[in-house]
Amino acid sequence: MSVVGARPQFVKLAPVAQALAGRAEHVIVHTGQHYDHNMSDAFFTDLGIPHPDHNLGVGSGSHGAQTGTMLAGIEELIGETAPDWVLVYGDTNSTLAAALAAVKVHVPVAHLEAGLRSFNRRMPEEINRVLTDHAADLLLAPTPTASEHLRSEGLASRTVEVGDVMTDVLLRVLAAGAHRPHPLPEVEGTDYLVATVHRPDNTDEPHRLRSIVEGLAGLDRPVVLLAHPRLRAAAERHGITLDVGALRLSDPLGYPDLVAAVGRSTGVVTDSGGLQKEAFLLRVPCTTLRPETEWVETVDLGWNVLVDEGFERLGEIVGRAAPAPTSAAPYGDGDAARRVVDALEQHHAGRATI
Ligand code: UD1
Repeated sequence: MSVVGARPQFVKLAPVAQALAGRAEHVIVHTGQHYDHNMSDAFFTDLGIPHPDHNLGVGSGSHGAQTGTMLAGIEELIGETAPDWVLVYGDTNSTLAAALAAVKVHVPVAHLEAGLRSFNRRMPEEINRVLTDHAADLLLAPTPTASEHLRSEGLASRTVEVGDVMTDVLLRVLAAGAHRPHPLPEVEGTDYLVATVHRPDNTDEPHRLRSIVEGLAGLDRPVVLLAHPRLRAAAERHGITLDVGALRLSDPLGYPDLVAAVGRSTGVVTDSGGLQKEAFLLRVPCTTLRPETEWVETVDLGWNVLVDEGFERLGEIVGRAAPAPTSAAPYGDGDAARRVVDALEQHHAGRATI
């Protein structure tokens, strides 16, 4: 049983569902954490993911209300379907709810994308991933850095390094979309940037959000801002206009369009985890609006720069010299999902905790 609920999890589910087809019966549970068409259904359609078998429809709410409603719903579904494994993805409230529901009723839990750490306990995602790793029976780590974090927390014996399934899906989408039309006709043929901002630490405090928006608006080329619903809601609440200066406001894109838009851009400015890595895989320089990143390899290799203050200087940072070309592949070879399924099969034979 795979449990997903938020946009980045649908992307990770796509290659896993494909690898599981024909090898195991796969029940897909959607918690309903993300529910707008372009945050949810569009990903299932574009990436060929089977329609979810169950949708809990939990919607938005405070952390406690959202996670608690999911926990009760998932527990019931586990009771009805008796899965051999519950597979959870990434670091959202849906991840934590599913891990907790399963472990309490003694159903083995596997955590995909285990071992990522920002070491920033203000992030809800950091709490979700630490608790999920410690609850889970099988930790599917994407990189040596992630495996090392798990080892230092005493979790080495449950860890299997499989690579990053985000590389699988990106390579597949790139191969299929070589002749895709430009998803952003308004900037076709121009030097443009792609931006996203959605983390609570960036959106919820009016002064900080205003200085980020002003920094982006003052850049020297068009900045297509793919606005997450949290950003739109926060901007409206704080009376901040998003469609100013260099900014061109757009709805979030589906995954194939996002890959095409980033691939043709000259830079990415973001606080998303996944987008930092997609930019690196497409060899587009990234500027990350956060004090730290889980994807440290992108910074070490010179393709990502972190900015946490002084957003009026964003122009200098975004306009920095191009990074040195690299053939490094810290996120694997595009065959991670097959290794995920191999690990589930092998460790299931031994039952539960490995
Ligand atoms: C969640 C994840 C985060 C992930 C992000 C990707 C948690 C704690 N955070 O953050 O790790 O990077 O998803 O997008 O789980 N909303 C809509 N329509 C939707 C979904 C959300 O309008 O389809 C609104 C909600 O009403 C809410 C806001 O967006 O006000 C935030 O949604 P929520 O699911 O709480 O967290 P995200 O910020 O999306």
